[in-house]
Amino acid sequence: MQAIIDKLTSAVAATHAEDLRAAFAADPQRFSRFSVTLGDLLMDYSKCAVNGEILDLLEELVTTAGVADKRDQMFSGAPINFTEGRAVLHTALRNRSNRPVMVEGRDVMPDVNGVLEAMGTFAEGIRSGETKGATGKAITDVVNIGIGGSDLGPVMATLALSPFHDGPRLHFVSNIDGAHIADTLKTLDAETTLFIVASKTFTTIETMTNAQTARAFVADALGEAAVGHHFCAVSTALDKVAAFGIDQARVFGFWDWVGGRYSIWSAIGLPLMIAIGPDHFGQFLDGAHAMDEHFRTAPFRDNLPMLLGALGVYHRKVLNYPTRAILPYDQRLSRFPAYLQQLDMESNGKSVTIDGKPVQGASGPVVWGEPGTNGQHAFYQLIHQGTSVIPAEFMIAANGFEPELRHQHDLLIANCLAQSEALMKGRTLAEAKGQLTAKGVTDEDADFLAPHRVFSGNRPSITFVYDQLTPYTLGRLIALYEHRVFVEGVIFRINSFDQWGVELGKELATGLLPVVQGKVAATGHDSSTVGLVSALSERKTG
Ligand code: F6P
Repeated sequence: MQAIIDKLTSAVAATHAEDLRAAFAADPQRFSRFSVTLGDLLMDYSKCAVNGEILDLLEELVTTAGVADKRDQMFSGAPINFTEGRAVLHTALRNRSNRPVMVEGRDVMPDVNGVLEAMGTFAEGIRSGETKGATGKAITDVVNIGIGGSDLGPVMATLALSPFHDGPRLHFVSNIDGAHIADTLKTLDAETTLFIVASKTFTTIETMTNAQTARAFVADALGEAAVGHHFCAVSTALDKVAAFGIDQARVFGFWDWVGGRYSIWSAIGLPLMIAIGPDHFGQFLDGAHAMDEHFRTAPFRDNLPMLLGALGVYHRKVLNYPTRAILPYDQRLSRFPAYLQQLDMESNGKSVTIDGKPVQGASGPVVWGEPGTNGQHAFYQLIHQGTSVIPAEFMIAANGFEPELRHQHDLLIANCLAQSEALMKGRTLAEAKGQLTAKGVTDEDADFLAPHRVFSGNRPSITFVYDQLTPYTLGRLIALYEHRVFVEGVIFRINSFDQWGVELGKELATGLLPVVQGKVAATGHDSSTVGLVSALSERKTG
């Protein structure tokens, strides 16, 4: 594989692939040569440093890495998450074809469909007001208590699909910081509130602690007997849920072959389903399934996730760009960058290969971003003129949901397109000087000022365009990025489906709690930790 990376590095230099201005000038067909569509979803990667030769090499890279083979293993239920001995089957959760998917000789589809149906019945009961609280009042507010994958997906998707939100109000509590739940509960009436305790493992300290706080809130207001009417749970650990005291009829299960960061399609999506209804939730699954089918069957040059993954590796390992920015020109996708942070960085933030050896060179990049146009007035300066090149990934709908504000949407589109054009084109010293002198600035002053107004240009970006941010489109978009992370992980030769890196902090926090509480001496810790414990305890007032 390193040989192909080396060939790519040589090809970039030999073909001057990074000179995007020249590439666009030389080829009027560049956009159509380097863009692909799936239905109304367009991916334009013509503003990346690609050409025919580089694309051939990227295809060779994907083929040599065995991406197609690994993909087929994933879809067929093979235990590709080998460090945890698990299959990786979030695709089964949205397998609208109902093709059997076998795990250890058993078709999982009847279970998947069974839970989806139970979620639908429960969600409809809450939405219609038929399923009431302990005092006979309809539920007006639903609080999802979860963290990481049990929070980010529902938060992001509920916000993204707010035009379809016709169910009760939704709230999300994730942080162990008591401020999060306290501020949320302040606005709520226990009689009309339902809490969803969402945790794959049902052991996560943040979720369990917040769930206990919520339980006390209901019990204090309505009495112990009311608790069951105001709680439901989503988990793979049904025994642990039972121990918490939640009625089995209100427990929605999923399975260990669903990774936390891939779980929005499972019962973890219950808050979203309550918000937008089972039909729209079904369309969300349909969109993801369409992307799955495309990923499974389309040839490399037409295959959005394959291309996106190959470009990601190209940016990271060949061109050595350490980060990528996710820049949705869609206010409702404002949590999409945070969602992709977990998806990508928890999956591909690894430094050990599947053979237990150190990864050669780079693996997953830092993923970050904010919606446009807000980001333009914050960090875009560095993207345009900073010393690091940051590949940008823009997304923009042709239509918003506010026809009366069409002029605002047109401004949004213009801004999005202007950014990618500016990143690509830049502004030369001569152009900068010319603009200044045209404004009447003297030659001497123009020479002094012009260097500050130079944009190097040739900065890469990918732009996604779609009709409108519907449940179907959101499903497609998330699945696209999931598969992109998969493709990159296979090329990096890492296991994208475990997350041992988050365990150490959890273990140390457990050990530090009695120290922070003053029950145990801070012996055995480093002097910084001991110093910080004592600085905090000196400042404690309660
Ligand atoms: O912090 C790691 C992690 O295990 C994530 O992968 C997961 O999404 C999150 O914690 C929450 O876990 P759970 O759903 O088991 O509470």
